[in-house]
Amino acid sequence: MSQDKRYLTTASGAPVGDNQNSITAGHRGPTLIQDVHLLEKLAHFNRERVPERVVHAKGAGAHGYFEVTNDVSKYTKADFLSEVGKKTPMFIRFSTVAGELGSADTVRDPRGFAVKFYTEEGNYDLVGNNTPVFFIRDAIKFPDFIHTQKRNPQTHLKDPNATWDFWSLSPESLHQITILHSDRGIPATLRHQNGYGSHTFKWVNKDGEAFYIKYHFKTDQGIKNLDPKVADEIAGTNPDYHIEDLFNAIAEGDYPSWTLKVQIMPEADANNYRYDPFDVTKVWPHEDYPLIKVGKMVLDRNPENYFAEVEQAAFSPAHFVPGIEASPDKMLQGRLFSYSDAHRYRIGANHETLPINRPKAPVNNYQRDGFMSHDGNGGGAPNYEPNSFSDAPKETPENKIHPFEVSGFADSAPYDSDDHYSQPRALFRDIMDDGERDRLMEAFAGHLSGVTREGIVDRQLENFYKVDPELAEGVAAKLGVEVPAHVKEQ
Ligand code: NDP
Ligand code: HEM
Repeated sequence: MSQDKRYLTTASGAPVGDNQNSITAGHRGPTLIQDVHLLEKLAHFNRERVPERVVHAKGAGAHGYFEVTNDVSKYTKADFLSEVGKKTPMFIRFSTVAGELGSADTVRDPRGFAVKFYTEEGNYDLVGNNTPVFFIRDAIKFPDFIHTQKRNPQTHLKDPNATWDFWSLSPESLHQITILHSDRGIPATLRHQNGYGSHTFKWVNKDGEAFYIKYHFKTDQGIKNLDPKVADEIAGTNPDYHIEDLFNAIAEGDYPSWTLKVQIMPEADANNYRYDPFDVTKVWPHEDYPLIKVGKMVLDRNPENYFAEVEQAAFSPAHFVPGIEASPDKMLQGRLFSYSDAHRYRIGANHETLPINRPKAPVNNYQRDGFMSHDGNGGGAPNYEPNSFSDAPKETPENKIHPFEVSGFADSAPYDSDDHYSQPRALFRDIMDDGERDRLMEAFAGHLSGVTREGIVDRQLENFYKVDPELAEGVAAKLGVEVPAHVKEQ
């Protein structure tokens, strides 16, 4: 009987005699506390939910592989990028940002694009979005920003006043909100969108030379977006439209893929580049740093179990491998703390040992114990260092970080540049055509029409005016208001 998967057991493995009728005193009850199977079933059910992610709660996941197609070994010693043809298993989770676990897929929101590469040197997580920039550039503003994207503390409704109050007072958001309100703000499917690492990262080669990097995953399916009206209808009729599309495509063998490209900046260029290369509200124009091909990511396997693989997946920007490091980007630095902290709260101190998170490389360290330590807990091996055991894990000095120089006074320092305008202007003026410009202004006006608190719309129109007067005038006209006179006089 012990090999037979078809007989029902309790969690402790005892066969269950009846799974339909509780044990009662007489046929009419009451129910006896002696029915330990019933008690276990009710108690386990009460504990089925872990806290949903505080952001990016709704998502879809898929397994696949990454294959190197171009030699980038002169820029990084990362083993998984070391030779053309090398394949690395990976897992991806796509998500919306602001909505809860059951929210609709086809809303206007950035999409998370979180990739876990199971490399032979440990897991490398690239936790990006489908946008190349972000709303803010200092981690200290993140909790406030997210509060404005979530629900009003009194009404429990989404709150355009809070959203636009924050954005209009944080003009560094202009680039990201222009992308968000453009056609790409509502992708047709998760397959028809690009992904970006957004931040600048550091690559280090075998000779100890460093390069700053930006990652771009370009969709091989082509970009496709949803008309906002169609998206609204789908949100009402099939809120899980994107999750369903991805699952079905993979199930039918129509495997989506992306071409990974990077922009590469030699370390020394960072000192005098025309933009702060660590400011996540800025891109590096392609004419300065062209895209260089690295490889191909293919999604070819659906998860077997959503909770085990997608809900319990823990992606962290702090998961690096030798040859890939953090840059000084102040947002990225904050994220290096936030994610693993969230995972310890959300799924526990030993979340790294769950099958979806467990590296395929050996894990040897002196961390022990904690809730749900289920993998032998290091057995009788030493749990401290330094130690005199020749077979105990030792540090590898060749994997120390690439040293970099820092200088200046410790201070609550703002960024040097206040140019929040030239890059959204390039997008608005040079990249978008007339139709897309009009749809952008329509989307801005639609969202701003929910703002009722005085001063917010005028402040945002002033910000738009600095991007491009046509943008401000166009949004104002669609809202039926005027751009304030003092703005035009500046
Ligand atoms: P390029 O003409 O070389 O590139 C324009 C980029 O814009 C392409 O990567 C294109 O993506 C992307 N794009 C087109 N429409 C949109 C949209 N609605 N939302 C977001 N991205 C879009 O120009 P530059 O490199 O000089 O950059 C000009 C502007 O383009 C930037 O200020 C920025 O706003 C935007 N951009 C730049 C990126 C960069 O890394 N340089 C990345 C993404 C956007 P695709 O090729 O996939 O169609
Ligand atoms: C999820 C914090 C900025 C992309 C999360 C989570 C936290 C968080 C706490 C939930 C993690 C979990 O419970 O598993 C922050 C902070 C930021 C920041 C503090 C700024 C300082 C960004 C940026 C990007 C991004 C700039 C993209 C470039 C994501 C993605 C997820 C996520 C994709 C979902 C990961 C998954 O699928 O599990 N973020 N975030 N975040 N964040 Fe951020």
